[in-house]
Amino acid sequence: MSDKITVPGVVACKGGRKLSMLTAYDAVLAALADASGVDMILVGDSLAMVGLGQRDTLAVGMDAMIHHTRAVSRGTERALVVGDMPFMSYQTSDEEAVRNAGRFLAQGRASAIKLEGGARMLSRIQAIVAADIPVMGHIGLTPQSVAKLGGFKVQGKTAEAGRALVEEARMLEDAGCFSMVLEAVPAPIAKLVTEAVSIPTIGIGAGPYCDGQVLVTHDVLGLFDRFTPKFVKRYAELGKVAVSAMQAYREDVEAGAFPGPEHSFDMPAEEVAKLKG
Ligand code: KIV
Ligand code: NA
Repeated sequence: MSDKITVPGVVACKGGRKLSMLTAYDAVLAALADASGVDMILVGDSLAMVGLGQRDTLAVGMDAMIHHTRAVSRGTERALVVGDMPFMSYQTSDEEAVRNAGRFLAQGRASAIKLEGGARMLSRIQAIVAADIPVMGHIGLTPQSVAKLGGFKVQGKTAEAGRALVEEARMLEDAGCFSMVLEAVPAPIAKLVTEAVSIPTIGIGAGPYCDGQVLVTHDVLGLFDRFTPKFVKRYAELGKVAVSAMQAYREDVEAGAFPGPEHSFDMPAEEVAKLKG
């Protein structure tokens, strides 16, 4: 479990060992995720909602994403760090997309980027891949499209929508993606997509047939409960643990029980005596 995870290493897992990915936005949680042995750490634009308290992912820009990606990279030794291209960092042109993708590697020290969208993003993906920047695709529910979609909903519940998603997945592979996220897609469609491409599919709310899974770490740990989608599994209730620890601290402070002598700095008695003089 000690070898560093690489992009070719991720691709080689297609159809074999299942891949796991978690999000992180800072060095502390990145180091914990890295120690857990997950393959990839995504610096998601979910930062906007989970870390910055916004109601969607549109309100985070490149400078913030690079700042957080750099912190995650510093906290990570083994996992592959993937930077999430924020809203309006790649939608406008191929040139802007390449330049911003490059910042994730050069400044954020990530090893790959992720961007949302299928057919309409192919020229962006080709341009970024041509600059030797590995790209993870993201289709199904694409949260940056929230204004158009009118909310966060499961995508493609019909056979027709499923076939369209398979076509988009094939296009992403042809454009050069090394893997792709499938978000909020019915399990039978995610299975079809996974069978149709030779790069790993990473599911979130996409059922058990994907080549890997991704979840938001704050959801997994029970640190964030303003919005919990059906597909989240909470493996701990650290939020409750944190509140009771903070409460015990507050009560100690109010009762004068903290700090005790073991947490305080003393000085020689004769110097204390001089203080009084
Ligand atoms: O921003 C994010 O955290 C994501 C994952 C949940 C796929 O895009
Ligand atoms: Na995202």
